[in-house]
Amino acid sequence: MQSAEQPSSCVMPSVDQSSSWWKHGIIYHIYPQSFQDSNDDGIGDLPGVISQLDYLVGLGVNAIWLSPVYPSPLIDSGYDISDYRDIHPQYGTLDDFRQLLNEAHQRGIRVIMDLVLNHTSDQHPWFLESRSSRDNPKRNWYIWQPPRNGKRPNNWRTNFGKKAWQYDPLTNEYYYHSFFWEQPDLNWRNPEVQQAMFDIVSYWLEMGVDGFRLDVINLLFKDKELRDDSISSLVSNTKVYSRNQPEIYKILKDFRTLLDSHPEKTSVGEIYTPPPGDHALASSFLGDGTNMLHLAFDFSLIFSIWKASGYYKIISQHYRHIPAKGWPCFFLSNHDIGRSVKRVSPVFHKYDKAKLHALLLLTLRGTPFIYYGDEIGMENTPVPKQKLRDLYGKLFYPFYKGRDGARTPMQWNNTPYAGFTTVEPWLPVHSDYTNINVETESRNEYSVYNIYKRLITVRKQHPVLQSGSIKFLHKGERNLLSYFRYSANTTFLIILNFGYRKKKVQLKKKTFLLFSTHRKPGTKMNELILLAPFEGMILSE
Ligand code: GLC
Repeated sequence: MQSAEQPSSCVMPSVDQSSSWWKHGIIYHIYPQSFQDSNDDGIGDLPGVISQLDYLVGLGVNAIWLSPVYPSPLIDSGYDISDYRDIHPQYGTLDDFRQLLNEAHQRGIRVIMDLVLNHTSDQHPWFLESRSSRDNPKRNWYIWQPPRNGKRPNNWRTNFGKKAWQYDPLTNEYYYHSFFWEQPDLNWRNPEVQQAMFDIVSYWLEMGVDGFRLDVINLLFKDKELRDDSISSLVSNTKVYSRNQPEIYKILKDFRTLLDSHPEKTSVGEIYTPPPGDHALASSFLGDGTNMLHLAFDFSLIFSIWKASGYYKIISQHYRHIPAKGWPCFFLSNHDIGRSVKRVSPVFHKYDKAKLHALLLLTLRGTPFIYYGDEIGMENTPVPKQKLRDLYGKLFYPFYKGRDGARTPMQWNNTPYAGFTTVEPWLPVHSDYTNINVETESRNEYSVYNIYKRLITVRKQHPVLQSGSIKFLHKGERNLLSYFRYSANTTFLIILNFGYRKKKVQLKKKTFLLFSTHRKPGTKMNELILLAPFEGMILSE
């Protein structure tokens, strides 16, 4: 396919079709409390997930990632684990989990666990032992320090903005916590910690899980000398000494070796960096592309404003930083940063933008992650103060209302509580559920849901969208983004009109319309294409 305009120089090489499922598949992120309640207690659970596996097959995703389902006091919604080898009773039992694995696998769906290596709950037996005395054998499993001049050992702050050292009068020392004080950080300089965690990894791998999402993986090591952070780095939240230390790379190499000793496993690391994000840092955790993480979340894209040139800049930079043998991935929403529908300010044409987002996510070169409910255009739910669950929100309300808004129940249908449960759910259902739900949207050909479904089908039918190279054509000029996906014998052109005006695009050849967010596919297109406002399309030769 040729165009009147010159293709850009941002090219990614093509990959071998036999490469792993995690490169070409679509990963669906489930927040277990909110996906489906099976026992009418208002909280989602594993049997609920099992009951919706056929929905996921229908949607066409290849894997699910479950936010933590381990036993936990739920101070940080399960990211404070008190037993790494079991299931929290609110979600079911280990047998339920095994059943989920079996039933998912029978349907060709892989299961990725969330794994928190950086910290445990303060109720974890390791920590209970560790805090019991200075000479307990597990003392050195966590980061303990005596007071410095009668005060905290240094000026580090938590990721929630509070002071990061908690005084324990029992032994007159402080322990370090990157998040809430109920989440003490492990001491990864102690080889016993590494061994214990790697045993846990093996335990789940042997049970049959297909991989791990590694929580805050860049926080694992802290400065050996515990140096104070500069005031500016504290203010900008780019903490220098309590994260991104070089020792992490060695651990990730060992972790990869362990994963690779089991066939077809994967890993994706959360490398959160404050706006505008940090491509180089995120990619550094991929090593040479084969010897550390399989995938790394780069947060840059979610900080972009709704502008084609901004998206181009971030996406092309992201590609430039991926190592030659590495693989990119993209996500638009998650349980911390909120839903993309709400982020594309100003929030007009929000569903048109959601559809363009879907097109982008499912046609870029890289593994797409879909956050549950994004496929129907769910948006953040306003949660009143008295119903807040997220401690982070409770601490800073009303300046920051926490993360609950993006964690509310999945909207399945328009019955009370959206078909998620039959009793008042743990978080309120969004008031838009009577229109924004799977059942209603499945009847509307151009709903966000049907756009996702059709795009997933197109992506599955055409390997070039999974593994083909990418070359940009429009880099934001006239608020257009377009790119070729191509392999030896196929070339597709994807065009996205980010703007609210119609746009003309002149091509050199006639094309065939494979997909459009606005019109029926299957027609021949002339050289001159007229895109409707916010229209996106996939054209083939
Ligand atoms: C990650 C999780 C977040 C949690 C934090 C601490 O960022 O995504 O939800 O609060 O880690 O574990």
